[in-house]
Amino acid sequence: MDRSCVRIRSSKYISVYKDCVSAFHMRSANYWQYILAMAKLVFWTIVVMLVALFVRYYLDTPVPEDIPEKLKVQLIDASMRTYRHLIGALVKLGLTDYFSTLDRMISDWFILAQMTGHPWGLKLTADQTLRINDTKIEGVRTIIYEPVSTYKYDNRTILIFFHGGGWSTMSVDSYDPLIRKIARESGVVIISVNYRYSPEYPYPAPLNDCIKVVEYVTDNLSKFRIDPFKVAVGGDSIGANIAASVSLQLYDRIAMQFLIDPFLQFFDFKTTSFTENSRYFHDSLHSPSSLVYVTNYLGISSNHHQAFLNNNHVTKSLRSQYAEMVNQTIWMKPELVRNKYLLKKVDSSGDVINENNTLSNEIEELITDPFVAPLMANDTLLSYAPEAYIVTNGYNFIRDDGVMYAGRLSKAGTKVVHRHYSAGFHHAWFFPHGPLKLNVSVQIVSDLIYALINRL
Ligand SMILES: *[C@@H]1O[C@H](CO)[C@@H](O)[C@H](O)[C@H]1NC(C)=O
Ligand SMILES: *[C@@H]1O[C@H](CO)[C@@H](O)[C@H](O)[C@H]1NC(C)=O
Ligand SMILES: *[C@@H]1O[C@H](CO)[C@@H](O)[C@H](O)[C@H]1NC(C)=O
Ligand SMILES: *[C@@H]1O[C@H](CO)[C@@H](O)[C@H](O)[C@H]1NC(C)=O
Ligand SMILES: *[C@@H]1O[C@H](CO)[C@@H](O)[C@H](O)[C@H]1NC(C)=O
Ligand SMILES: *[C@@H]1O[C@H](CO)[C@@H](O)[C@H](O)[C@H]1NC(C)=O
Ligand SMILES: *[C@@H]1O[C@H](CO)[C@@H](O)[C@H](O)[C@H]1NC(C)=O
Repeated sequence: MDRSCVRIRSSKYISVYKDCVSAFHMRSANYWQYILAMAKLVFWTIVVMLVALFVRYYLDTPVPEDIPEKLKVQLIDASMRTYRHLIGALVKLGLTDYFSTLDRMISDWFILAQMTGHPWGLKLTADQTLRINDTKIEGVRTIIYEPVSTYKYDNRTILIFFHGGGWSTMSVDSYDPLIRKIARESGVVIISVNYRYSPEYPYPAPLNDCIKVVEYVTDNLSKFRIDPFKVAVGGDSIGANIAASVSLQLYDRIAMQFLIDPFLQFFDFKTTSFTENSRYFHDSLHSPSSLVYVTNYLGISSNHHQAFLNNNHVTKSLRSQYAEMVNQTIWMKPELVRNKYLLKKVDSSGDVINENNTLSNEIEELITDPFVAPLMANDTLLSYAPEAYIVTNGYNFIRDDGVMYAGRLSKAGTKVVHRHYSAGFHHAWFFPHGPLKLNVSVQIVSDLIYALINRL
């Protein structure tokens, strides 16, 4: 072999190799392009399918007929269902538990995201119009909102506010944007109370936290520069249960109670509003599974929520003993029930089929206690109660509790302002601003601010 051959061969080899390498590069470039194209196709197919599923299963929520902003309400419901499904999946994977810190954090994110439009519900920060103090009163976390507009006054009005969330979720943080708006626009000092949660702390712990805060504030009115005749308590959903209960216990310290969508009794879960409103918002806050909040607060097993739904948790004899306090024939305003047929049936709700004596005996003392269920208060106690401003919403599953309480308070001689919003639903007042702003919400919140300024 002469050296030139070697040279030729090697140079030929080198050139083939070069070709091969470049061909390989080209092939692999094609290959990767192909993979990439396929991946893109799969990705977009999945996206389209998810969107279709989302639209099919998430946005088909039956929205109350007289709410004009259908899509927004469907998005609110879809968001709550996404939260439920997310937590459900995390629990199934063994990554967390219901009512864990993580669950509560994610729930706050979802609520804040709906209210503010920030994807993770970013907390608002500094505010030129308010002095905000995230602090503790008697060991209970509270946020104190002091409007700059009335900061220098020594005759300020105060609202001590208890958030909703079934005694088990939500917090002063998820209510922050709403409370800021109300404080800013009313000039009222608001103390928002982060009472302890059930199921870890069933009744009376959450209520006692709130009572401690109200006692402390009303013992120190001059420190807070509050006019003693301008102390109000308020809350929504079970926060309104707390506000009503605090008002019955500390009636001589409170000028007015603001009850928004109050949850006031555990006796009858076949009220006309439970029946006619359960078909809306099928898997969000209106779901029967929200009865787990009731069992959390009563400190009993959540297995019982089906018994509650069927009204099997109370025996016939106990029912007849207390019937008058929650009797819908007497206390419900017929004009607020859309399906009149249901009103004819309310008296047969006494037809308990499978009453559970053991359960009924176990919870009798609690569910007939007016401080647990203010609608069970007798007329004497109701007559001492401070003036009430009660908000009810037409499509709320606990609408009737508020309507009946308004009737019972006013029969007992207590002043009542009852505002009913036929197009509203549970927590409708969350959206007076933000991307999901609803007309009914704007109305509820502006009426409330008007009452804080002019009635209190
Ligand atoms: C916040 O409130 C606490 C007591 O509740 C008080 O000690 C503290 O000075 C307050 N902070 C501000 C900035 O006002
Ligand atoms: C409260 O005090 C401010 C300033 O001291 C005063 O302008 C205002 O009229 C007072 N309001 C009431 C209702 O007395
Ligand atoms: C506020 O009231 C509590 C009693 O609820 C009392 O112990 C405390 O000393 C008072 N604080 C001030 C600053 O007056
Ligand atoms: C409710 O009140 C009506 C009217 O007073 C009465 O006829 C009915 O028997 C009462 N229902 C129950 C369950 O007591
Ligand atoms: C009735 O309630 C008791 C006590 O809460 C429970 O142990 C029992 O399983 C219930 N019975 C039925 C049939 O649900
Ligand atoms: C009304 O209820 C209160 C509180 O539960 C109780 O102390 C009082 O004795 C009751 N009054 C009547 C007349 O039943
Ligand atoms: C909301 O209310 C405003 C003013 O009251 C009205 O002009 C507007 O049409 C309402 N929007 C919807 C969607 O009903």
